[in-house]
Amino acid sequence: MEDLAAQLDAAVADAAVAVAAAADLDALAVLDTDLLGKKSVVTTVRSHLGGIDPEGRKVVGRRVNEVRTEIEVLVAARRAELAAEARAVVLEAERLDLTEFDRGRRLGHRHVVTQTWERLEDLFVGMGYTVAEGPEIEDEWHNFGALNFPLDHPARDMYDTLYVDHGEPQSTLLRTHTSPVQVRVMETQEPPIYSIMPGRVFRSDTADATHMPVFHQIEGLVVDRGITFGDLAGTLEAFTRAYFGSDFTSRLRPSYFPFTEPSAEFDIQRPDGSWLELAGCGMVHPNVLRAGGLDPEEWSGFAFGFGLDRLALMRHGIDDLRELFRNDHRFLEQF
Ligand code: DAH
Repeated sequence: MEDLAAQLDAAVADAAVAVAAAADLDALAVLDTDLLGKKSVVTTVRSHLGGIDPEGRKVVGRRVNEVRTEIEVLVAARRAELAAEARAVVLEAERLDLTEFDRGRRLGHRHVVTQTWERLEDLFVGMGYTVAEGPEIEDEWHNFGALNFPLDHPARDMYDTLYVDHGEPQSTLLRTHTSPVQVRVMETQEPPIYSIMPGRVFRSDTADATHMPVFHQIEGLVVDRGITFGDLAGTLEAFTRAYFGSDFTSRLRPSYFPFTEPSAEFDIQRPDGSWLELAGCGMVHPNVLRAGGLDPEEWSGFAFGFGLDRLALMRHGIDDLRELFRNDHRFLEQF
């Protein structure tokens, strides 16, 4: 037992030296694993606790926890120090002399995502659509239930939902897509409906080149008498040529969404022949029409949902989604 206690004391002393010597954040991350991970002294000592008498186990057990905390504090303090140093280096390297700019003549302009948003609105308004919006904080019914996601159905896990601590557990959320606005439009407007619904959506995703926890979608909804799948295909094809140019075409591939039946993925073909997936779409499911207060015997419709940021990336040949939200003006001023 003394032996274990001595090992723990030595571990803290060693950690203090090693942490102080860590030259950068990467080295510190490696060290963090060495000091607290599976192969660390702390973990090894803990695994030997079972072999000592209950009294001793209590004493050493407590000491293990203390040592763990002491090492965590050491690492956190060094991490803060190194992060501040790293930031200072970046700030110095990227310092901008704003007096270089000829004041008065260089006006700002709209963000590339806003430009894409407005272009899409113009295009669909030109095709006779209206623009609708809905709330970013949604209730479970509009985001899922009304869209024909049964309770406890695995399809709800298609999205990593961020719930808001309000009302019953999981009753309020940050909308995971713009599809709930379809239902809100049906609830408030008489058909015929020809609407698009752009907006911000939220998912608990880690940011990488193709994902952001906050991004944008544009939803489309048409409800009228006698609407067919052919109308959907024709609309998306017309959109493709208008938005990307007449050297692009599109195709629909079978897919699954709870709120459409049949459902499809919409791909576009670039002039070089390659395909790119851009949207989900399909014929509005009768249950969704009912949830919106419409009689599926009388009305039919189609819907689609695009990733708006993706359209911006595509159009401008940008390969990393994160660039759009870094707000580095050297990047943004190019568009
Ligand atoms: N809401 C879907 C998503 O976020 C996209 C989508 C698929 C929208 C099919 C639609 C649709 O309107 O019909 O993944």
